[in-house]
Amino acid sequence: MYAVTYELIKTCKQSGARLGVLHTPHGDIETPIFMPVGTQATVKSMTPEELKEIGSQIILSNTYHLYLRPGHELVKKAGGLHEFMHWDKPILTDSGGFQVFSLGPLRKITEEGVEFRSHLDGSKHFLTPEKAMEIQNALGSDIMMAFDECAPYPATKEYVKNSLERTTRWLERCKAAHKNPEKQALFGIIQGGMYKDLREQSAKEITAIDLPGYAIGGLSVGEPKPMMYEVLEYTTPLMPADKPRYLMGVGSPDDLIEGVIRGIDMFDCVLPTRIARNGTAMTSQGKVVVRNASYAEDFTPLDPECDCYTCRNYTKAYIRHLVKTNEILGARLITTHNLHFLLKLMEQIRQAIREDRLLDFREEFFRKYGYEL
Ligand code: GUN
Ligand code: ZN
Repeated sequence: MYAVTYELIKTCKQSGARLGVLHTPHGDIETPIFMPVGTQATVKSMTPEELKEIGSQIILSNTYHLYLRPGHELVKKAGGLHEFMHWDKPILTDSGGFQVFSLGPLRKITEEGVEFRSHLDGSKHFLTPEKAMEIQNALGSDIMMAFDECAPYPATKEYVKNSLERTTRWLERCKAAHKNPEKQALFGIIQGGMYKDLREQSAKEITAIDLPGYAIGGLSVGEPKPMMYEVLEYTTPLMPADKPRYLMGVGSPDDLIEGVIRGIDMFDCVLPTRIARNGTAMTSQGKVVVRNASYAEDFTPLDPECDCYTCRNYTKAYIRHLVKTNEILGARLITTHNLHFLLKLMEQIRQAIREDRLLDFREEFFRKYGYEL
């Protein structure tokens, strides 16, 4: 009856990580998966054909941005977001909660919802759980996220408790307002900051509401990495094993591996696309800041181990020239490579789970990439 269902294929005997398949109205997704971010109904500079060639199985887009521009009614008129942007694979939309909370002084939170001023023209808007559902129903995404509050870090225990309890009440309202659960899946979001008992409280409250999937929000908000891993370690065991688990806004290579080891199935992050546009590549040997003078006469590819379009055809010296002259192709070539790199990393992770050797894979990968284990 739900639009999206999760099938657990196996767990890694070495790490406990999960290999699965997510069945959606726009096709199956192999998990664990990384979702490239297309905030404004485009993964910046990439065509859908290019995204598919790189191996993207699902992309993420944003309620807040599309509501403000071009407007969800217009997208609905176009036949929905898939049709509008010419992407026929699954789409997940974030609810706008996180983006609105990032506006700082431009917003005001009440029990009813969040009043905010547009970052574009200063116009006043009011986003509520009901409105977030109405917008995402109009967009027609396969997976819609609940309207939640992501508490800042650091925040007092009292603040985080109030905020997570409000998030639960908002989830009840989202579920009640959701028009077509058989066509679009609504995922709930666990909050609770860095407080163990509050994460437990939120996990219990959120997963008590029957939904096709659950996310962990409020992480990667400035806390130290070991703190995030600890929160994951005690939160994922409280989530149902027969539903997908999505860690929101996380996507550095080490966090992806550590997240999967702690039972996460889905990730998204602007990191690979954002750093590409300022000239940074993620490679099997670590980050390459292609702008650096040391690459001026480096006629080797970004990553000698990569077989993406960029690495098959271009040198660091050429890409450096494009970046330094602000040529659009520079951003396109590095974006292609970075997304290919992360999506291939996820495939390597899935293969390691199949072969019960994810901890060995982590050690190998970290040593090469230059991370400390
Ligand atoms: N993206 C990253 N973190 C969050 C979060 O806590 N909530 C939402 N809605 N989106 C996010
Ligand atoms: Zn490459």
